Amino acid sequence: MEPKMTAKDAADFLGVSLQAINKTLKSKEVDYRKSANRLYFGHDTARTIFDLPIKRKKIAFQIVKGGTGKTAIALNFAIRASLYGLRVLCVDLDQQGNLTDLLGVDGDEHACLIDSITDPTVHFKDLIVSVLPGLDLVPSNLDNALLENTLTIKKIRLDRVYSQRLASVEEDYDLIVLDCPPALGSNNAAAALAADKVIAVVDPDRNALKGLQFTYEEVSRIGSDFDQQIPIGIVLNKFDKRTSLSHDTLEMLIKHEVFGPLLYKSYVGTNQQIPNANASLVTLFDNLRDSSAKMDIDLLTREVLDLDGALSMKKQKTEGMNSAGMDSPVLGQQDPMI
Ligand SMILES: Nc1ncnc2c1ncn2[C@@H]1O[C@H](COP(=O)(O)OP(=O)(O)OP(=O)(O)O)[C@@H](O)[C@H]1O
Ligand SMILES: [Mg+2]
Repeated sequence: MEPKMTAKDAADFLGVSLQAINKTLKSKEVDYRKSANRLYFGHDTARTIFDLPIKRKKIAFQIVKGGTGKTAIALNFAIRASLYGLRVLCVDLDQQGNLTDLLGVDGDEHACLIDSITDPTVHFKDLIVSVLPGLDLVPSNLDNALLENTLTIKKIRLDRVYSQRLASVEEDYDLIVLDCPPALGSNNAAAALAADKVIAVVDPDRNALKGLQFTYEEVSRIGSDFDQQIPIGIVLNKFDKRTSLSHDTLEMLIKHEVFGPLLYKSYVGTNQQIPNANASLVTLFDNLRDSSAKMDIDLLTREVLDLDGALSMKKQKTEGMNSAGMDSPVLGQQDPMI
């Protein structure tokens, strides 16, 4: 796996010309590669080039309905965020361990979340596996099937159990992504309480609203039980412009009094490249060619994390420092190209 940020995508995001970004890459002491005349780079260079002022975020992907694409979206979102320079931790909370498998990690060879709950000598930090530059994982395996009963029978405080564990490592990350199983219960409740936001991934289906309604009600109930605001966002996945079901689902969501305002503008189209990439154990962003799947994930990542807002903030700060005659630590200040 070698996810890449192309110089072209970087130039588009920064609002500069391709020549400018190429020149910047060549003039800085950063690592970049070239393939078929296209320059690209990975997380470490992205962190230097973009240097975005990001507020730390923890996002849980949840919905009671199975197979909507929670794991696929969580994975690709996490990888794309790492390519904007964010340090990302993925936590696999699903006993199926799909996210773990997709990241090429054998969950059975590692301890997982349940071990840090049942065995006081296992610290959450010790569960972390380094997978890619800028992307770490807390893997999962079938042992996590015990999470639900353990949390319930031992009457463990749901508002503390995961949030305390995440707090022990959150200094090391800009983004924590929790991939949750298709369920309603203590495991998902604890994840929602540990997150800053729950994102419900919906697919076009006659029952799409029903699954969303259950998850929405459960997250709202948990929030009010623990006196905590848990914002919810909704993303439509597997949108197929050729089917009326897709258009109907999108329209239903947009017009819905409660769900409409929570719906992200960016949706992810159905695209064979997503399962194909998974099957060949590469990431969607290993390929340098443009594709609608990559574009959809890119726009979603930018919207969810407000990366464009972070970029404007950085530019404003740089301009402010320039007009005050101060030296700016923000990359690009000395380089008129960026
Ligand atoms: N936009 C998409 N286009 C095409 N296939 C997709 C898309 N999103 C997800 N898939 C495929 O749909 C299947 C289910 O996706 P995924 O495992 O991410 O769903 P899930 O909601 O995490 O499932 P579960 O509820 O079991 O955890 C996978 O084969 C995945 O590759
Ligand atoms: Mg899943």
